[in-house]
Amino acid sequence: MTKILLSLHVLAAIIAVGPVTVAASMFPPAARRVVAAVPAGAGAGTDPAAAGGAGDVGTVRLLHRICRVYAGLGIAVPVLGFATAAAMGVLGDAWLITSIALTAAAAGILIAFVLPRQEELLEQLTGREPVEHARTARLAMFTGLFNLLWATVTVLMIVRPGSTTGA
Ligand code: HEM
Repeated sequence: MTKILLSLHVLAAIIAVGPVTVAASMFPPAARRVVAAVPAGAGAGTDPAAAGGAGDVGTVRLLHRICRVYAGLGIAVPVLGFATAAAMGVLGDAWLITSIALTAAAAGILIAFVLPRQEELLEQLTGREPVEHARTARLAMFTGLFNLLWATVTVLMIVRPGSTTGA
């Protein structure tokens, strides 16, 4: 049973968190390409595609959608993680408690900063409003922090410092 739960937990991490990482990392440069596609002073209502640039709001929207949908599926990762930990009797282990805290921090950054800021940018791009470079840069920073946190959790899950339950 433990092996099944662990397999599902790892599968969920790969299938759900993987796409969020890729799509969220692609979002800021994709948004910047749309901004660059509209020449300065072109004014509201200029179609970036018609302006001859490589930017495409549709791509930015799809990337946001992937992040939102797979972030929802990602809830399965901690749920299956808790089930695995309970089955293994390791819920009180320090490495696991640290991992739970880091997972919560990663989820918090995704829900409170990454997804809402993506949505704001998407609205601005759809409305052909000007977008400052600092906004995409800040989003890239939060996205990087999210990636760093969950990558740290993955390493903790594999190394399990202080664990005596196997290699
Ligand atoms: C509340 C959050 C989480 C809990 C309670 C949890 C729990 C666990 C437990 C109990 C194991 C088994 C460790 C062992 O074999 O001794 C495990 C393994 C693993 N977890 Fe998590 N986990 C959580 C979040 C995550 C996240 C966010 C990721 C990555 C995105 C992740 C990736 C993995 C991987 C790759 C393994 C396999 C490690 C191995 O067997 O070598 N986990 N997890």
